[in-house]
Amino acid sequence: MTSMVEALAWDTEFWGVATARVVVADGETPAALSALLTTAMGEFKFLQVLLPLDAVGLIVAAEECGFRFADVRCLLDIPENMPLPNTSGEPSFVAASGDVLSAAAELAARSHSISRFVSDASLDPQATSDLYRRWVLRDAGAHGWEVDVVLDGSDVLGYVTYGVDSAGEGSIGLIGVAEAARGSGLGNALASRAVLQCRAAGARRMTVVTQAGNASAMRMYRSVGFGVVSMGCWLHWHLGSQG
Ligand SMILES: CC(C)(COP(=O)(O)OP(=O)(O)OC[C@H]1O[C@@H](n2cnc3c(N)ncnc32)[C@H](O)[C@@H]1OP(=O)(O)O)[C@@H](O)C(=O)NCCC(=O)NCCS
Repeated sequence: MTSMVEALAWDTEFWGVATARVVVADGETPAALSALLTTAMGEFKFLQVLLPLDAVGLIVAAEECGFRFADVRCLLDIPENMPLPNTSGEPSFVAASGDVLSAAAELAARSHSISRFVSDASLDPQATSDLYRRWVLRDAGAHGWEVDVVLDGSDVLGYVTYGVDSAGEGSIGLIGVAEAARGSGLGNALASRAVLQCRAAGARRMTVVTQAGNASAMRMYRSVGFGVVSMGCWLHWHLGSQG
């Protein structure tokens, strides 16, 4: 594979500017990456590149082109037959739809304060919050995906989105717990629920992506049995924002 620039149609529509991701091949050189980024900067207004955390030469090359650090992405997975810990209280889960789904999406819009989009000062915080709202609604409508919630009356205390792809790989999309309900095992219960449901739907491998700086999420996934597979550094560039 050679490095390439991949235009992102959904992101372009969402952010309202021509957006692309630069996909970097193994063994890429800083000089070749600089050339590719420079070309892409003439064609797009918002660029995103994910680089291996130990590829310092590539990270410096991107920074020299005007890209800025946005986040450390952490990919985790859980072994196929790993037994899951007992979760405290075993809450009942509800498949979200209608008003409950809307409430889960609203909770998502308030919950995700650590992300590469939040840390990117060039992005409108209102739009970033809307990204998580729409993410939950998109997952709810996606083939093979579910959104489950835990309710307290009509209040959504927590949500998790998960699904299994055609290759039999399960993944968690988003997970969040209302601030007042955190620290009592709900996150753990929701993540475990997603793993069990994906396994029941035939998933062998199960993955999730989170931010290495999100201590509560990292600890939650670890306590369910997930381990780190890889880490990468996200850098963003916006036309007109470098200085
Ligand atoms: C991440 C999140 C879902 C955890 O939910 P929660 O209900 O508080 O989690 P739990 O109570 O089940 O705790 C799970 C583990 O994380 C630990 N933990 C929870 N909050 C923590 C914090 N702020 N700092 C460190 N560890 C924390 C708990 O001690 C527990 O670890 P243990 O099993 O080893 O004791 C919640 O903090 C949240 O909604 N965050 C905002 C949204 C988000 O970041 N989602 C994840 C990325 S998609």
